[in-house]
Amino acid sequence: MSDELLQAIRTIPDYPKKGILFRDITTLLGNARAFRRAVDALVQPWAGSKVDQIAGIEARGFILGGAVAHQLSAGFVPIRKKGKLPHETVRIAYSLEYGLDEMEMHKDAIRPGDQVILVDDLIATGGTAEAACRLLRNQGAEIVAACFIIDLPDLGGRKKLEALDVPVRTLVAFP
Ligand code: PRP
Ligand code: ADE
Repeated sequence: MSDELLQAIRTIPDYPKKGILFRDITTLLGNARAFRRAVDALVQPWAGSKVDQIAGIEARGFILGGAVAHQLSAGFVPIRKKGKLPHETVRIAYSLEYGLDEMEMHKDAIRPGDQVILVDDLIATGGTAEAACRLLRNQGAEIVAACFIIDLPDLGGRKKLEALDVPVRTLVAFP
């Protein structure tokens, strides 16, 4: 199965910056069978468990997170780049493989004690996911796990999340 997913992911050299091998999931999303398999595999450990909210990270985490929320009958909380959400927000700065940014979520999106799964397409340095976990926990979320299709293990993101006691699920790795 992971071979099918690996083959469905396209690699673009030198995007968005020279030296980056960009792992492009649009080819996986456009492949109905691979898309379904990826979403099914992401949710499989939590099928039948009580999950209140899926938090998806803009932008690619929205596509996967919506499908995961539907499968688990959970709500969906968007974590967005700064300035995009209309209501009162909480904000955090972070760094990722190729830059710096800030992300926000609505202050009232999480109820204290909500069981939350974080979803994104890929974990590289883990800077993005770590910031999202901190934001969610500051609002009282209990993070059940963080799920990604792709792990770039050489960049250490999984270890960063595990050090925060966040269980990590990934489906394929690019060494
Ligand atoms: C990508 C990816 C993750 C993040 C991972 O998003 O979708 O969110 O980078 O990198 P890290 O583990 O080093 O933090 P990006 O910021 O490129 O945004 P996009 O989905 O809007 O293209
Ligand atoms: N986000 C951070 N690093 C990335 C990579 N190499 N490919 C796709 N998205 C990324």
